[in-house]
Amino acid sequence: MSFLNKIFNRNKKEHSVSLESIFVDMHSHLIPGVDDGSKSMNDTIQLIQGLSKLGIKHFITTPHIMSDIYPNVGSNLLSEGEKVKEELRTRGMDVTFQVAAEYYLDDHFMGLLSKRELLTFGDNYVLFELSFMQEPPNLQEAIFEMQSAGYKPILAHPERYLYYHNSFEVYENFHKQGVFLQLNLNSLMGQYSPHVKKISEKLIESKLISFLGSDCHHLGHIALSKQVLSNPYLKDLISSDCLLNKTLIQ
Ligand SMILES: [Fe+2]
Repeated sequence: MSFLNKIFNRNKKEHSVSLESIFVDMHSHLIPGVDDGSKSMNDTIQLIQGLSKLGIKHFITTPHIMSDIYPNVGSNLLSEGEKVKEELRTRGMDVTFQVAAEYYLDDHFMGLLSKRELLTFGDNYVLFELSFMQEPPNLQEAIFEMQSAGYKPILAHPERYLYYHNSFEVYENFHKQGVFLQLNLNSLMGQYSPHVKKISEKLIESKLISFLGSDCHHLGHIALSKQVLSNPYLKDLISSDCLLNKTLIQ
């Protein structure tokens, strides 16, 4: 996007995009009481209603599986997801709802991976996240194991790992080796920090983002997501052919 275009677009605040045509939200925390997301079924319904108003009709929710803090078990998450589906049916809400997970790269994850017991979505995609403090020493091994097992790894919110900010080539290398990158919608609003916003913009300009997710945990996230709909970088991303969200529609 040229400099003049950016200025021009930023002044057209009234011109928002809808997420409806392409957007399957494949990163959120909508199962009640299993992680730091929704706290109750009522919460869950409000969150889904709020996201629906942004144009999202398909949800692949991804509760944390992190052995130290959220020791969730896949089968339990699936059965809790069935309760959400039942509630959505009872209320006549016209959305689809599927359960996967956001896996923290720890020893527990490596164990599940070796047993081929990961929750997946779409074309065998697995969403995983890293420590915010430092790159895990076994990252490359984990990527190799995932790909060897036929999984397609998606790295959650790469823009949020500050230790990569001064090594942009790391993002390019992920892309080259077939690790898909998923941007959080609200990163473009500076929810995390101005640096995260800047890297998000650069990742979009470099055409490295393949998936977009709300990473919605609570209603505050939705309030911010409403504002992002007029963001020029989001418009660029949606009008590009980089995004694969729409391939996930069931
Ligand atoms: Fe998340």
